[in-house]
Amino acid sequence: MGETLILGLESSCDETAAAVVARSADGRGRILSNVVLSQIEEHAAFGGVVPEIAARAHVDVMDGVVRAALEDAGVTLAEIDAIAATAGPGLIGGVLVGLMTAKALALGAGKPLIAVNHLEGHALTARLTDSVAFPYLLLLVSGGHSQILRVDGVGQYRRIGTTIDDALGEAFDKTAKLLQLGYPGGPEVERMAALGNAERFTLPRPLLGRKEPNFSFSGLKTAVRLEATAAAPMSQQDVADLCAAFQVAVADVVADRVGVALGPFSAETGGSPTLVVAGGVAANKAIRARLEAVLTAHGGRLVVPPGKLCTDNGAMIAWTGAERFALGFRDGLDVAARPRWPLDSAAEPLIGKGRLGAKA
Ligand code: KG4
Ligand code: ZN
Repeated sequence: MGETLILGLESSCDETAAAVVARSADGRGRILSNVVLSQIEEHAAFGGVVPEIAARAHVDVMDGVVRAALEDAGVTLAEIDAIAATAGPGLIGGVLVGLMTAKALALGAGKPLIAVNHLEGHALTARLTDSVAFPYLLLLVSGGHSQILRVDGVGQYRRIGTTIDDALGEAFDKTAKLLQLGYPGGPEVERMAALGNAERFTLPRPLLGRKEPNFSFSGLKTAVRLEATAAAPMSQQDVADLCAAFQVAVADVVADRVGVALGPFSAETGGSPTLVVAGGVAANKAIRARLEAVLTAHGGRLVVPPGKLCTDNGAMIAWTGAERFALGFRDGLDVAARPRWPLDSAAEPLIGKGRLGAKA
């Protein structure tokens, strides 16, 4: 049998994206096209994503992005086997744009529809890029999430740790905003950190050494603000030094928390654990280097998909659609968009985590 071709649409945050992915019967994937239109410029002035602006921008460009994805892949809609779209979690106005577009295409072209959890898209990307086998441990670190999950199969997730306050990407973004760096903050903080001396400022390492592999970043954010206030007016070097201190503190915490999660996971699964890092923060090279060392110490393997597949994109949605399609999952045209949609529905939000954030 040949390959299945899946069109995937993503619009849950500030990227309008569509992609065509092929999946062979033996489970290998191939990206035929991956079109991502970022709205960063529209939101930059506000230092964050404005939901209403995002939703309108998705409406403006989604048709063209889908057309471009089909053209780049050299396929027609008729040749597509199924249409997948992010159905949540995310900014509901944006999610609706992608999901409704997918429904219209599915109905018009007589194709099956597959509603995809955006987080599952991040979670399964490593199977597209590196053919990673189940089970694996997933560190999901994005603008809206900081979680450690055990992944046992498509749709099978168990949350092992989560943040009790801010998400890691959010901490990067808030630090950048405070230091008047650009948006999104992660890449800016990483760029400045490379020029700084991490020893100059002493910052806390929240939850370091705790038995449960949870995260907390709001205290760190406050500590950065206090140091910045004390050092005002800050020179470029001061900013670089504070960014370096922040990044090292974060990397220490992430390495520690992942180490705590790896122990039991490794014991339960017979050793040689695989850790997959997903979400925008996976692009951070300092964090990546620290995790590399942790995995080496555990006799395991670190898998980080290429940067443009770590941040939001259509290929991750198309691929998740392909995995679900192969297992026989189909959704009706009445499937609802969901602003919240945890991967592990049995896991409760932790006390202190007032909001799960709209971004994923
Ligand atoms: O997964 P993603 O593209 O979007 C959602 O949150 O859904 O992740 C974006 C987040 C932002 O908070 C951004 O600042 C962060 O990922 N990020 C980074 C880096 N690149 C992106 N954080 C740290 N270092 C980076 N190089
Ligand atoms: Zn995301």
